[in-house]
Amino acid sequence: MTADRPNLSIDGLMGELMALAQISEAEPPVVTRVVFGEADMRARAYVKGLCAEAGLIVREDAVGNTFARWEGSDPTLAPIGTGSHIDAIPNAGLYDGCVGVLGGLEAIRVLKKLGFKPRRSIELVIFTAEEPTRFGIGCLGSRMMASVLTPKQALALRDKEGRGLEEWRAQAGFTGPLESVAVPNGRFHQFVELHIEQGPYLEQEGLDVGLVTHIAAPASQRIVIEGEGGHAGGKLMPGRKDALAAAAELILALESAAKSTGAIDTVGTVGICDVFPGAVNSVPSRVVITTDVRDIDGARRDRVLDALARAADEVSARRGVKITTELINADPPTTCDAAILAALEESAIAAGKTYKRMVARAYHDSSFVSCIAPVAMLFIPCRGGVSHRPDEYASPEWIGSGVHVLSCTLARLAE
Ligand code: GLV
Ligand code: MN
Ligand code: MN
Repeated sequence: MTADRPNLSIDGLMGELMALAQISEAEPPVVTRVVFGEADMRARAYVKGLCAEAGLIVREDAVGNTFARWEGSDPTLAPIGTGSHIDAIPNAGLYDGCVGVLGGLEAIRVLKKLGFKPRRSIELVIFTAEEPTRFGIGCLGSRMMASVLTPKQALALRDKEGRGLEEWRAQAGFTGPLESVAVPNGRFHQFVELHIEQGPYLEQEGLDVGLVTHIAAPASQRIVIEGEGGHAGGKLMPGRKDALAAAAELILALESAAKSTGAIDTVGTVGICDVFPGAVNSVPSRVVITTDVRDIDGARRDRVLDALARAADEVSARRGVKITTELINADPPTTCDAAILAALEESAIAAGKTYKRMVARAYHDSSFVSCIAPVAMLFIPCRGGVSHRPDEYASPEWIGSGVHVLSCTLARLAE
């Protein structure tokens, strides 16, 4: 296949990645692009412009999922999908998600340049809000496409200031009925997402790419701890109902529950801890923490959640604080499709790239796309496994390998 050994220069792509990274709410090189914020909107416009320049037909749905289509010779066939996200958590780097979007676009441009004529259309998707920053739930756009999140549930989402999805999407110019975001099973014939590993293994093992066989099952909760506030000097230690001290016990209980499974694949994190009133001389009366627990074994992940629930009951009774837990999501693990994995493997071999099969520990839009189409993911290394930090880095060579294998794979799947 001509696509197997194209004369690939990714200088243009690297320039586009750097240009996209300049579009940030924070001072570059820090990337922060929260969905529907000013930077997200400018980044969308930039990427849509590149897609249009590449001759793709661009369309957006009612929540801002963006589809850029290269029409195949048989438009009646379901397309091959690829893509990822361009929103970025606060204090992020420039590769998470963006490599899958701009790398997917580059793979399409490579195939066009080679004169490849796809039989199936190839559609690049830029999913809305893979990151949970604004609305507290990850993969908003792909969840809604897959009907895992209903319009009613989506409308109930609020940001920290109490502004809802309806207000935000209207401001962003996305106004159609939310019901229209859901797509039927088979909307894509197959879907493949390119992404940085966000872990250290490919780099450590000196491999060019990873073929993702499973995506870990994430669950998150919002836990509110209500105690009793008061003067830090006047309120004596006996009988205190310090909400932050209780939260500290829960945080440690989560850490110990995640470690106690004995499986390297279980991880548990508390990444948010809001303390009220947040004054140095005031006993905390109310604390909100979030938990993020993941595993490739859904039942084992749920046992960690059960252990945390038991700890919450015990801490609540012993300390006399009220603890309320709201489950935000508990998604099942994803198994990637054997046929796409075979195409990825053939492509890696044909492109002369080293590879291994591996697990994805972060979550990805592909998890939700898997509800409506067969999916697989293609990983490239990232330095030190670092991600969700400004020093996240993937070398041009790694990115080039990923684009190369992706373009070969798209050609195999679409012809
Ligand atoms: C997405 O970035 C995740 O939290 O895995
Ligand atoms: Mn991310
Ligand atoms: Mn990502």
